[in-house]
Amino acid sequence: MTQDSALLPAPKAIPHEGPNEALRDGSNSRKVFIKTYGCQMNVYDSTRMSDALARDGYEPTDDMEEADLVLLNTCHIREKAAEKVYSALGRLREMKKKKAADGREMMIGVAGCVAQAEGEEILRRAPAVDVVIGPQTYHRLPEALRRAKQGQRVVDTEYAIEDKFEHLPIAESRKIRARGVTAFLTVQEGCDKFCTFCVVPYTRGSEVSRPVSQIVEEAEKLAEGGVREITLLGQNVNAWHGAGPRGEAWSLGDLLYRLAEIPGLARLRYTTSHPRDMDDRLINAHRDLRALMPYLHLPVQSGSDRILKAMNRRHTAAEYLALIARIRTVRPDIALSGDFITGFPGETDKDFEDTLRLVEEVRYAQAFSFKYSTRPGTPGAELKDQVPEEIKAERLERLQMLLLKQQQEFAESCIGKEIDLLLEKPGRMPEQLIGRSPWLQSVNVDAKASQIGDIIKVRITGTGTNSLFAERAEAAV
Ligand code: 5AD
Ligand code: SF4
Repeated sequence: MTQDSALLPAPKAIPHEGPNEALRDGSNSRKVFIKTYGCQMNVYDSTRMSDALARDGYEPTDDMEEADLVLLNTCHIREKAAEKVYSALGRLREMKKKKAADGREMMIGVAGCVAQAEGEEILRRAPAVDVVIGPQTYHRLPEALRRAKQGQRVVDTEYAIEDKFEHLPIAESRKIRARGVTAFLTVQEGCDKFCTFCVVPYTRGSEVSRPVSQIVEEAEKLAEGGVREITLLGQNVNAWHGAGPRGEAWSLGDLLYRLAEIPGLARLRYTTSHPRDMDDRLINAHRDLRALMPYLHLPVQSGSDRILKAMNRRHTAAEYLALIARIRTVRPDIALSGDFITGFPGETDKDFEDTLRLVEEVRYAQAFSFKYSTRPGTPGAELKDQVPEEIKAERLERLQMLLLKQQQEFAESCIGKEIDLLLEKPGRMPEQLIGRSPWLQSVNVDAKASQIGDIIKVRITGTGTNSLFAERAEAAV
């Protein structure tokens, strides 16, 4: 079936186009606009898709108007995600019509978790869409676009047997440099935990770890391209496992020790972790590795054992607190971050008070909190005792006030401290740069653009709304 063909000009004829045809003849430079929704993994995926498309002559653009291809990399984690995508697609359809009237073609692709969850339904509800591609098949995107160019509408959401990362190119040094001194690197995808509120195991599939050699190669390329800080990504990143050089079993801790040896790479982080997968090796890495930043995102979701059980988190509040205590023993300056859900089915006032108590006890540096949203197909959606919206909202507000207070207290506790700052990007004022603290805060400091990528010693002097201020403490390290 072809799309809205009455409204659109015939696709541009690109006979027998090979992967690099457009690049070779130079006459066919095309532009892609990628809109990324959701988590950091989607940000990473968008970069990798952009690199794959570059081989077919697509250059990235920030201007949707001039795009030949608009790609929505979607997220399905919380409510109305799909509806938001459909309304964005409605607007894109108008744009596509307008461009067609001017004799310009614009293709539309939907990628990410909504693509995975909705599949064919997207083609049915959004007639202007040319390609629907799931998170496990990005390496087949160029091929899907070629088929779409020939008039087919393509849905490719099968879980691929082949490893997509083996087929996705890593950008060359020049491009890596242009993207900045911090980068994401996905090491693990999918999830086998099946928390009862969560769609991830259904949209991203079961847990898969990338092999050590692939990860090390990519990290080395990033470091050669000037990246100083890498954040390892995974839906359940600390469930990553692999094999070391002698075939021995490696967990995420071992991988971090290996990556810390890469020359030029000064900082490592990882996200998102599950409390059950914080093994000793990983905790010890926080003790031993200077490169491993003292920041840990460790979602707990609720402080009530009853709710934790109903969520299938498979740990208690006391176990979580004991884990935090162990981590703090080896790394006393570690900053903690978390995720919370208010109003999970069956949550009572008492359960919610337990959450507040846990938050008081942990003292988070940062946190994300959400109202429970029913995700079709998850066990949570089947539960009776759904909590009314206004109660979810009320609890969320109370929780967020407490978390915000803790965030401010943490920021203020930094004043006067001397820290290493990774200079990342230009600041708002000339002769000013924004750097990243070990605890993931943005810090403004006087420095020259040529210093981007340096790590300097600064003293924190004050706090702003979403950032800190600092002065130079001594020469660059
Ligand atoms: N409702 C509300 N929040 C959710 N999250 C995941 N699924 C849901 C849901 N159905 C939150 C969790 C998770 C974060 C990424 O999103 O807190 O840790
Ligand atoms: Fe979702 Fe739970 Fe897996 Fe996290 S651990 S991705 S919340 S199922």
